[in-house]
Amino acid sequence: MCGICAGIGKNDQIAYVILGLKKLEYRGYDSSGIAFLRNKKLEFIKSVGQIKNLEKKIPNELKENIVIGHTRWATHGKVCEENAHPHLSENKKIAVVHNGIIENYESLKTEFLSDKKFYSQTDTEVFANLIELQKGKNLAKLIQATKLVKGSFAVAMLAENDENIYLAKKASPLYVAINNDGAMASSDISVFANKFDDFYILEDDEFAVINSKNVCFYDKNGKKIKKNSVFLNNFDFKEENLTEKYFMLKEIKEQPMVLRKTYFKYFAEDFFSKWDLEIIKKFKQFHFVACGTAYHSALLGAQYVQTFCKKECKVSIASEFRYGNEIISKNCLYIFVSQSGETADTIACASLVKNKGCKIMCVTNVPYCTLNKLADFVLPTFAGKEIAVASTKAYVAQVFTMLIFALKLADKNFQEQIKQFVLSYEIPSLDKKFLKEIFKFKKIFFIGRQKDYVTSLEAALKLKEIAYINCLGIASGELKHGTLALIDEDTLVVAISTEKSLKDKVESNLQEVKARGGKILLVSNLQHDIEVEFLINIATFSDYLMPIVSIVPLQQLAFEYAISQGYNPDKPRNLAKSVTVE
Ligand code: AGP
Repeated sequence: MCGICAGIGKNDQIAYVILGLKKLEYRGYDSSGIAFLRNKKLEFIKSVGQIKNLEKKIPNELKENIVIGHTRWATHGKVCEENAHPHLSENKKIAVVHNGIIENYESLKTEFLSDKKFYSQTDTEVFANLIELQKGKNLAKLIQATKLVKGSFAVAMLAENDENIYLAKKASPLYVAINNDGAMASSDISVFANKFDDFYILEDDEFAVINSKNVCFYDKNGKKIKKNSVFLNNFDFKEENLTEKYFMLKEIKEQPMVLRKTYFKYFAEDFFSKWDLEIIKKFKQFHFVACGTAYHSALLGAQYVQTFCKKECKVSIASEFRYGNEIISKNCLYIFVSQSGETADTIACASLVKNKGCKIMCVTNVPYCTLNKLADFVLPTFAGKEIAVASTKAYVAQVFTMLIFALKLADKNFQEQIKQFVLSYEIPSLDKKFLKEIFKFKKIFFIGRQKDYVTSLEAALKLKEIAYINCLGIASGELKHGTLALIDEDTLVVAISTEKSLKDKVESNLQEVKARGGKILLVSNLQHDIEVEFLINIATFSDYLMPIVSIVPLQQLAFEYAISQGYNPDKPRNLAKSVTVE
C-alpha cells in the first residue's frame, strides 16, 4: 500500500505534494511525511496519522521547489514517526519514499549494510542505504540498488546537491505528468490535476529522472528510452464532494444512480456491440479470482454464469490462488474482479495466468489501472469514484455488471425487467427504532443459503471492517456443524432470506437458533411463519436481483453501528482502500 507523490517545478511544490497526498490517503493513513532540498541539503518533516497532522507541522513560510512525499500503511514496523517515510541514508545524502515491500531487506542488511546505523524498523531505510552504497552517479546508484532488491517498489528519490527527482518502479504503480512549470510523479493518475499536458505510465524496470525542465526515461541498463505520453480519454480529475457527513453514507445513497448508469452504459450505449461475445462463449470454464468484497461479488458472478450459461465456474481468493496448485487451462477464461484494479494479489494472479498464455477478463472500477493493462477484455463498472474504505456502491456495481454479462452471454432477453428494476429501485430508510437494541450485541452471525449466503459473507465483512465487531458469515446449513455451539442469549443471528424455494430450510435453521436462546434479525422479502425479534422487510424483484436489494440495509446497519460506537466509517483502523502489497 502507501502512496507516493513528488513535485518539482518553478512554484512551491510543498502545497502540491500535500494536496496529492490527501488524494492518496485511501492507500494508507497511518503516518506521512515530506522531504525536500533546501540549500542543496536534504530536510524532512514527518507526522503520525492523517495528512492534516503533517500539514499542521509545515510552517506557512516554507516554500520549496523539489519535494517528495508519502502516506503510509504500515507493513514493516509499528506506526510511529521514525517509521514514517521519507527515509534517509545514514549519511543523509539520499532520501527515499517507497510503496511496496522489499522482501530481502534483512539479508541485504546483513550482507551489505552491517556497519550502518538504522533509525527505523522499515525495509525502506535499507533501500535508502543500499542506494547510497552504490558507485557512480545518482541514477546509476538507483538502478544498481534495484537490481539487488527482491519484491515490489515504486520509489521517488532525492539526493543532496542534485536538483532532480529519480523514479523507479517494479510491480507498484507510478505515473509521471509534466507541463511548462515542472513535473509531478504519483502512485495514482487522479492526483494530477488537468493542468498537466503530458502523462506517462512508468513500466516495470523503467526509471525516470524529472526536473523543472523535462523528464527523461531509462531502461534497467541506464540507456535512455523514448516513451510516448498516454492519451487519457475522458479521465475525470474532478474531486468527489462530500455531500453527506461521511463518504460511506454518500456512496450507499448513490447506489440507485449507479444501477441506472450501469443500465444506461450497457444497454443504451450498447456496450457489448463492441465485443465479440462469440469468442467468450467458446470458453468451457470460467474462473473468477478476487479479494475481499470483490471476492464476494465474484461468488455471485460465478453463480450467474453457471445458472444462465450452464458453464462450469470456479471462484478463488487471489492470495490462495497464487500459491496453490491450480490447473491453468487455455479453455478457461480467467476473470479478475477488483474495484481499484491495483490489488497486489489479484494482479499477481492475472500476470501468472497471462504468462501461461491464457485469456483474462477484468471487472474494474478505475480506468487506467494495472489490471486493465493486462486484460484481454475489460468489463468496466460504473460506480464512480469510491472513497470510503468499505466498498458499497462498487460491490453493487460489480454484482449488477456481472449479472448483465452472464445474461448477455446466455442470450437471455431481460432488458425490460432490468429497466423496470433500475427505474423503481430506491434506497429504503432503515427503521432506527430497533437499532439501539441491535447495537447491544457483540456476537453476531450472518446466515443465508446460495446467493443469500454470499450476502451474509459481505454483510459480516462490512460490520467487521468498520464497527470492529467480531462476526461471521455462514452458510445456514453449516450452523449445526459447529457454530451452533456458540449460540446463546447474547447472540444475534442475522438471517438473509430471499430464495422462495429455500424458505422452509431457512425457517428450520432459525428454529435451531431460537431453541438455543439466540435472537434473530430477519432480512427478507418473503412471508415467513416464524416469530423473530427484529425484522427488515425488503422489496421484491426478480430472484437474481435480490442480492443487490438485500445487501443495502446491511450496509446501512454496519454504518449505523460504526457511528454509534464513535468510529469514522470512512477510515477504519488498520486498513487502506487499495491493497497494493501482498
Ligand atoms: C471492502 O469493503 C474492502 N475494503 C476490501 O475487502 C476490498 O474489497 C479488497 O481489498 C479488494 O479490493 P479491490 O476491489 O480494489 O481489489
